[in-house]
Amino acid sequence: MTDKSTYHIETYGCEMNVYDSSLVKNILTASGLEYTGDKESADYLLINTCSVRDHAEQRVFSLISQYNNLKKTNPGMKIVLLGCMASRYREEILKKSPGIDLAVGPDGYRNLPEVLGAGKKYWSGGYALEEYNDIIPNVEGVTAGIAIARGCENYCSYCVVPYVRGRERSRPVKSIISEMETLAERGVKEVTLLGQNVNSYYHDGLNFPALLRRANEVDGIERIRFMTSHPKDCSLELLKTMADCRKTTKHLHLPFQAGSNRILKLMNRKYTREHYLGLIETARSTIPDISITTDIIAGFPSETEEDFEQTLDLVRRVGFDDAFTYRYSVREGTKASKMKDDVPEKVKIERLERLISLVRKISAEKIEKNRGSTATILIEHESKKDSDWWMGRTEYNNIAVIPKEMFQSGDFVKVIVENVSGFTLRVKAVADTVPIG
Ligand code: SAH
Ligand code: SF4
Ligand code: F3S
Repeated sequence: MTDKSTYHIETYGCEMNVYDSSLVKNILTASGLEYTGDKESADYLLINTCSVRDHAEQRVFSLISQYNNLKKTNPGMKIVLLGCMASRYREEILKKSPGIDLAVGPDGYRNLPEVLGAGKKYWSGGYALEEYNDIIPNVEGVTAGIAIARGCENYCSYCVVPYVRGRERSRPVKSIISEMETLAERGVKEVTLLGQNVNSYYHDGLNFPALLRRANEVDGIERIRFMTSHPKDCSLELLKTMADCRKTTKHLHLPFQAGSNRILKLMNRKYTREHYLGLIETARSTIPDISITTDIIAGFPSETEEDFEQTLDLVRRVGFDDAFTYRYSVREGTKASKMKDDVPEKVKIERLERLISLVRKISAEKIEKNRGSTATILIEHESKKDSDWWMGRTEYNNIAVIPKEMFQSGDFVKVIVENVSGFTLRVKAVADTVPIG
């Protein structure tokens, strides 16, 4: 490997993958490689992948055959597969998709420079469960993710994550806080604390609410988000901490997955719909204007029309600000893969469509209610649609756009919502605010 080698990285999947890609950028840049925005000319084209649904994997397989064509004009190019698919298929991936030159799983990134140089084909990182405590991700902009825990051992019966990401490990508080401090020095104003189940964070006697309180004291970081919360571990202590800490946002992402207790049990989620509804009530009485989002799966094995009605009923009762909705996808090796995938594809699609239209209707009603209300936005970057506007997010996690005027990226601006366009708020600064940041 010469110091002129370039790399490009593309990221699929969840926020944890986005975070890992920024770690990889740090590792490769420190070893002398240069990042290029032009994937066609890159010496190393890295693809950070997701295995959570079959569709995500199929997309990557077709991308790889597409990218293989780039080797005709750039014969030295190596295609490097990172992330959960590398972990799931191990060496087998090289046979499944011969265009891949090298596959490296999520615990093997520290060794990437040597592995690339050595011309290896596969590297898992051995059995060491990585935390990357000493590596600060390369980030651009005013927002950044921070992994506070890696892996998962909740074993929801449909989910592949525990198999591809390994045992759950919480990072030491000290290393998380020092990462936040370094990011603050680099101009980051908002962090999202990441984990498959942040509520089960535990290190050296400190739980997640305790970590949030510590994080709230870091100078320069003015806003703290976190995801994902698991309803079985979401405590009153957490909700009270959110209410107490000035910097935590008024947003809770709390996936419920299914509204029927029978299906929840088969999913091994370890809570009931009653418990979930109780949590929402407590969240709303503790933080009255809290915004709540969720994840939902339609068409889990044996789901009947009655079960599905219970999912729709829960959506109506809670009135989510937004929801990510998915059609059940069998993942080989999981407990649910041994159950009969007996909901016909046609029915899964039809249920998903009904779910999406209900979710959209409710979130459209919710967003409309923002007209005339005030919020504080953190200006992130130029709006992709119009270069005269900035894009930012409110403390409720709504996307907002504001005329550029005298503001800049990184400013917190108190705004009033003038208009709503689709799911974007059009806002203007409240007259007497001075940008802080
Ligand atoms: N750790 C998080 C999210 C993990 S994956 C949590 O526990 O909520 C993100 C979402 O993908 C899940 O919440 C679930 O709704 C969905 N998902 C996971 N496995 C799936 C599968 N096999 N089929 C369809 N959707 C799935
Ligand atoms: Fe998957 Fe459940 Fe872990 Fe989330 S908590 S990553 S859904 S096993
Ligand atoms: Fe996908 Fe891996 Fe995240 S399977 S959802 S990228 S942890």
